[in-house]
Amino acid sequence: MQRAYEVLEKAPLRKRNTFGVSATAPLLYEVADSAVLPELLASTALRTQPLLVLGGGSNLLFAGDPDSVVLSLNSRRINLVADDGDRVVVRADAGVEWHAFVLHTLAQGLCGLENLALIPGTVGAAPIQNIGAYGVEVCDSIHAVDVFDREQGSMRRLHRDDCAFAYRDSLFKRVPDRYVVISVEFALSHTPASRLDYAGLGDELAAMGIAVPSAQQVADAVVNIRRRKLPDPAVIGNAGSFFKNPIVPQAIADVLQAAHPALPMFRGDSNATRKLSAAWLIDSCGWKGHRDGDAGVSDRHALVLVNHGGASGAQLLELARRIAASVHARFDVALEPEPRVIGATW
Ligand code: EPU
Repeated sequence: MQRAYEVLEKAPLRKRNTFGVSATAPLLYEVADSAVLPELLASTALRTQPLLVLGGGSNLLFAGDPDSVVLSLNSRRINLVADDGDRVVVRADAGVEWHAFVLHTLAQGLCGLENLALIPGTVGAAPIQNIGAYGVEVCDSIHAVDVFDREQGSMRRLHRDDCAFAYRDSLFKRVPDRYVVISVEFALSHTPASRLDYAGLGDELAAMGIAVPSAQQVADAVVNIRRRKLPDPAVIGNAGSFFKNPIVPQAIADVLQAAHPALPMFRGDSNATRKLSAAWLIDSCGWKGHRDGDAGVSDRHALVLVNHGGASGAQLLELARRIAASVHARFDVALEPEPRVIGATW
């Protein structure tokens, strides 16, 4: 029988992060059954230690070794919680691979996650940075997040409105060491209500000859676009978008728009702000396809840093800092990394 968890010393992390950079965890807990987590997390061995929870390793950069205990969650249960004929609640363990979960819900005829197909990572990581793509954010479908609250030393249920979701942000990200996501409940629907208004998605469906798409067909279109536009971490190490799209006050956006009419901008978190395309800003500074040894910028998408093979996390971070400095010098806009940087401060 498989053990509920194992403890590894000096565990190599290169295959546990999608950048494929080398790092070592002093102590790694590999948890196969989430049922042990409440007791394990409350134990004296883990309760007071700084903790790094590792999902698919697709949203972090090891710029050095973590000095915290690493917890790797591999429990992969998916359960139907409620079905009232249309609204369906599905619970998935944090360790379930995100894209496999999206495909599972589509196979059950459930709609809501189709625009989020092919995002790397796990279910547990999804609410932390509120993953988003093609006009949809995961918080739109989240019903509740079950967490272990390390401050209170017990399990807690946070409903969607308790999670302070915002663009690539949440309560879990703002207080990084307090909550461990154990499982997530999603409210999905049998009735398709797909968002098709994001640039390129409607065109892709038209090119596929589809006028009224099913949720599965929307997911297929998203997969096609992502495969074309974004490098596959299985082929070349990367963590998706390395920078967040900066959100600036409307007045600053107006000045930038007048000086650079081609700069794409979208509504920010409120009407008083605008979200700028970081990819465009970086591209305009000439970084697309740039390489410093094995640390580089994707030649497909300017927002994606890539590891051509042997780059260290510190080299990738150094490149990211140079990119941000050049964007700041040219546009007076500050870029911030989207992935969590471990072992260094931004
Ligand atoms: N653009 C460039 N150069 C490039 C790429 C894009 O100038 O190399 C410009 C284009 O003009 C385009 C605009 O940037 O109109 C926006 O590009 P895109 O549609 O690819 O979206 P994005 O804002 O760069 C965001 C997410 C992606 C998500 C896509 C699609 C962030 C930080 N990134 O990228 O998420 O897949 O939208 O919805 O919000 C991720 O978070 O890891 C990620 C890949």
